[in-house]
Amino acid sequence: MVELKGKNIVITGGTTGIGYEVVKRLDRENTLFVIAGNRHRLDALQREFPRVLICEADLAEAAAIETAVGMIQSNFERVDLLINNAAVQHTPRFTDPDFDHASIEREITVNFTSVCRLTACLLPYLIAEDRASAIVNVNSGLALAPKTDSAVYCATKAALDVFTRSLRYQLAATNVAVYQAFMPLVDTPMTEGRGSGKMSAATAANHLLNGVARGIEDHYIGKAKMLRLLITLTPWLARRIMRGS
Ligand SMILES: NC(=O)c1ccc[n+]([C@@H]2O[C@H](COP(=O)([O-])OP(=O)(O)OC[C@H]3O[C@@H](n4cnc5c(N)ncnc54)[C@H](OP(=O)(O)O)[C@@H]3O)[C@@H](O)[C@H]2O)c1
Repeated sequence: MVELKGKNIVITGGTTGIGYEVVKRLDRENTLFVIAGNRHRLDALQREFPRVLICEADLAEAAAIETAVGMIQSNFERVDLLINNAAVQHTPRFTDPDFDHASIEREITVNFTSVCRLTACLLPYLIAEDRASAIVNVNSGLALAPKTDSAVYCATKAALDVFTRSLRYQLAATNVAVYQAFMPLVDTPMTEGRGSGKMSAATAANHLLNGVARGIEDHYIGKAKMLRLLITLTPWLARRIMRGS
């Protein structure tokens, strides 16, 4: 459990969607370090929140992550909260004639490998004897049951679930709590033009942060909570519904 006041917080993908709403909620009472790929959106974020520290880095590149970590080191003596939020989702199917093979590696690297890398690099700044700190991985209901489109995205989120749980075991004897938030469909640029009945990004961010404040390890939000229940009771039905979602 981490009280979200006076903290040094690193968040990836804080320029749009859920991440942006998290920044909006945390900026006033904390010091934020935001990593994202698009310079213009980062500049706009800094104009809106002048106290935020921004870092342009493509999380698909290991060298860019190292540079970002260097900047974090020069700004923060300690990190209290790492929010691994950035991700991309490619919807074309493998059977589509224009399926882009290069997207496979990029999607896996941004959504999964970069989370592992950044976590490993920042652990020395999270681990301490005299305070509580936490890592939050932003996950998806699709980690529990995949849909037909976005096969690679679903697989990266399932990998993120397993990674989160195993890392939690590794850090059990330390001050670092390891959380994950399973999001339902949320109205953000990632889901623009598709889906219905979406949760707003502001509501999703509120749930995410309430989960951290309450110390909920695996936080199933909105319809992701129903999905989890359905998978426990009737896994075949849950998979059938999600297949066509
Ligand atoms: N929206 C949903 O329905 C939904 C559902 C379940 C889970 N989630 C999860 O929620 C999280 C946030 O998603 P969202 O919907 O808010 O997405 P979003 O609005 O598309 O935002 C994604 C953020 O990630 C950053 N980003 C993407 N690729 C990057 C890269 N290579 N390097 C650095 N930053 C990068 C983007 O910044 P730049 O464009 O500037 O790089 C942006 O700030 C993700 O982990 C997503 O998987 C979303």
